[in-house]
This record gives sequence, structure tokens and C-alpha cells, in this order.
Amino acid sequence: MLPALATGLLAAGMALVPAGAASAASTLGASAAEKGRYFGAAVGTYKFNDNTYMTVLNREFNSLVAENEMKWDATEPQRGVFNYSAGDRIVSHARSRGMSVRGHALLWHAQQPGWAQGLSGGDLRNAAINHVTQVATHFRGQIHSWDVVNEAFADGGSGGRRDSNLQRTGNDWIEAAFRAARAADPGAKLCYNDYNTDGINAKSTGIYNMVRDFRSRGVPIDCVGFQSHLGTSIPGDYQANLQRFADLGVDVQITELDVTQGGNQANIYGTVTRACLAVSRCTGITVWGVRDCDSWRGGDNALLFDCAGNKKAAYTAVLDALNGGTNPSPNPTGNRLRNEASGRCLDVNGASSANGAQMIIWDCHSAANQQFTQNGRALQVMGKCLDVPNNAAAGTRVQIWDCSGGVNQQWVMNSNATISNAQTGLCLDVNGASTANGTAVIVWSCHGGTNQRWARA
Ligand code: XIL
Repeated sequence: MLPALATGLLAAGMALVPAGAASAASTLGASAAEKGRYFGAAVGTYKFNDNTYMTVLNREFNSLVAENEMKWDATEPQRGVFNYSAGDRIVSHARSRGMSVRGHALLWHAQQPGWAQGLSGGDLRNAAINHVTQVATHFRGQIHSWDVVNEAFADGGSGGRRDSNLQRTGNDWIEAAFRAARAADPGAKLCYNDYNTDGINAKSTGIYNMVRDFRSRGVPIDCVGFQSHLGTSIPGDYQANLQRFADLGVDVQITELDVTQGGNQANIYGTVTRACLAVSRCTGITVWGVRDCDSWRGGDNALLFDCAGNKKAAYTAVLDALNGGTNPSPNPTGNRLRNEASGRCLDVNGASSANGAQMIIWDCHSAANQQFTQNGRALQVMGKCLDVPNNAAAGTRVQIWDCSGGVNQQWVMNSNATISNAQTGLCLDVNGASTANGTAVIVWSCHGGTNQRWARA
């Protein structure tokens, strides 16, 4: 046993996080490009004379989208009178730096010019389709992906369309818009874009059914945008939802990502990034602004850079995920093991050091019952070893016990950030994927979900 243990010590290198992929680009755009994807930001031309803003923008991103400058009210302020100056400025900045451009958005119920808000019926339909044709023609050949239609589905449980002046022109307004966009710019990918579609729910399923119908009838749609304006949690089926759309034969893109700052911000950013990387048809991610104080979400501090342009923990989580790392923690050298789904730490219940004391998740703190030392494949805490009984079945609670060197006390740090028991191959798992303080930690068959992923913190 001794040679094996010695080898284990060397192999472990005292790191809880495995080496992971070798490549490690140092900016979001370059790292995403290595993965065949883009990483973009929404921009406003009114910030283009802000040096800090431009430094971060030009260094980090390889795709841009106009936060407002290509919307209907901006591009056609009077009927038939088009103004492309601000949109052109964004395109030309992107082109001069080799960045791609997302077009946003041809038709939407919001930010319509006053004259269009006052139209209805056939008159509005004609004006809308003309708008699509004119704008897509102007930018022809310069747009990677167009949000042809934005936010046309209702929130809540109906799974149906949102009421709007456009919807009242007839249910076929969306397909008419896609056909007009294809005719005007055959080289652009044509996307449907919406929010509150972050998991499998009534709204995302309504959109899914529309996309499936469009594909079956030959309506030209190439991609679906998931805005991903997120709060303090993310649905567990975020990736599965992207995948089901991809399986319809369309690309998927994360189009307006921002996440409320709080204990879970970095983890959520990392989770979204990993989800996109795991779905081969997820072609890129766009964050909705550069720094926290550029964000439309005011006090949420929802972006990757602070107002001075410093990288936040959320930035590191995204870059690590893009680089194939597994550690979204702002402190990758800590001795705690933080669960990704909950943001809480592996903890010996009651700070007990007794044999059989059970493991739970709890708010991360600095006391000894969350401090782990790696010794070969053993994980020591409170002077004991992380343990499950011999040949423990799925569902068994994880505990501490006198260190025995037994294989039931050996844990393998897997490259997907799961931790499996060397004897049974079962993974450390937060029971029921609960995120509550005090939830039991058990062993369960490995599925790689966020309730089974752990990072040093
Ligand atoms: C927002 C912009 O960020 C704001 O500056 C503007 O005042 C309102 O629109 N979904 C979308 C985006 O598709 O166009 C919105 O952008 C945010 C929500």
C-alpha cells in the first residue's frame, strides 16, 4: 500500500482542482475563440469617449451588439426616414478591431417610434416589414446574427404570444419578418430572442414549439437567443434547455447575460459559460454591458467589471470556465470545498469531531469544520477523514471517521469538478439539489450537475 499512497501524494500535487485543459488565453474573446465561440458585450456609442470603458471593451471582447442604436426608434425615427449613424459607428468600430456584430433588434413591442405605436392592421404590418427590409439591407454583410424578433412570447404559464400591436396584425407576423430578413441579408444568421427562457418552462416551450414549426415549414430561422438576465439563482435545466433547442437544428446564443451581484454571481456566470461550452451549437455569449455602472440594471452590479474597470470574481469564473478550468471561486487556493449550485461549503455538522458526525452544506465561514487538508486521496477535517461506510449505496450520508487509509475514505477529484468515492465511484452530492443551509451531503451516482460540483474556496 505504501508505494501506492506515495504515488497518490505526488499525483495529487496537493491541489484539489485538477490541471484541466492546457490552454489558457487571458481575455474573454481570445479564450472563447479558442473554443470556436465569440464573447461579446452590448455597447452604447455615448460611452465611446470613456477611456476606461474603451480599454476594457477593446481588450476583452470579440463581438459587439448595440444596446439601443439599432432598435426601431433609433433607426427609423420618422416613417421612411432612416438614421444609421450610431449603428454604423458601432459596426465600424467592430470591423476595425476584427470583432463580429450582433444586430439587435428588427422588431419588438418596445422602443418603437411613436409613429409606429400609433399604427395598426395592414398599415402597421407593411411598415414593420419595410423596416425589416430596409435595416437588414443597410447592414447587409456586416451582421453575424440578427435578432429579427425580440420578446414576442408572454410571461407566465400560457406558452402563447404576448399581446402587442404587432401580434394584432396576425399570428404570422413573426414568420413574415424572418422571410423579409432572409431576403434582405442572406448571410446573417436569423435569431428569435427572448427572456425568462432560462429553463424548460411554459414560455420557453412555446418558443420551442414555434421554432420546431418554423423548421418543419421552411421558415428561415437559424438561431435562438437566450437573454439570460438572471437573479441570484439559475434553473438546474439551463443547459438541457439550450440543448433541446440545438437539437431542433438551430444555433443557440446567450445574448444579454447579466446576473445580480451576491454570493452566487460568480458561480452563475461560470455555470452559464460551461453550459454554452457543453452545447456544441451554442456559438457565443454576450454580456449586456461592460462595467457595472454601464448596466441598464442600476444597482444590481450585474456585470463582469466594476466601475473602475477591474475584473470581478465573476470575470474569473467566466475566464476559468472558458479555459476549461473547474474553479469558479475567487479564492482558488482556499481549503474549503464550495458547492456550485448552492454557493455553500462542505461542513461537519455542529463542528463535531466525533466519529459519525455528518456532512452538510452551510454558509462558507472560516472555522475548522470547513477546512480540509488533502493527504493523498484522503480529505481530512476536524482531525478525521471524510468517510462513507464500506461499499455505501447511493443515498448514504457522508460523515467523518478516524482515518484508516481505507479505499472508502479515498476521494477522486474529477476534471468536471465532481468528487467521487474511490471504492464505489459515487459522487459527493447535495441531497435533492437543495441549496438550503443544513442540507445533507450524500453519495449518489455521478451526473455532473451543479449539486455535485465543488471548488476550492
Ligand atoms: C435595454 C437597454 O439596455 C436600455 O438602455 C434601454 O433603455 C431599454 O432596453 N431586453 C432587450 C434589450 O432585448 O434590448 C433591453 O435593453 C433589455 C431587455
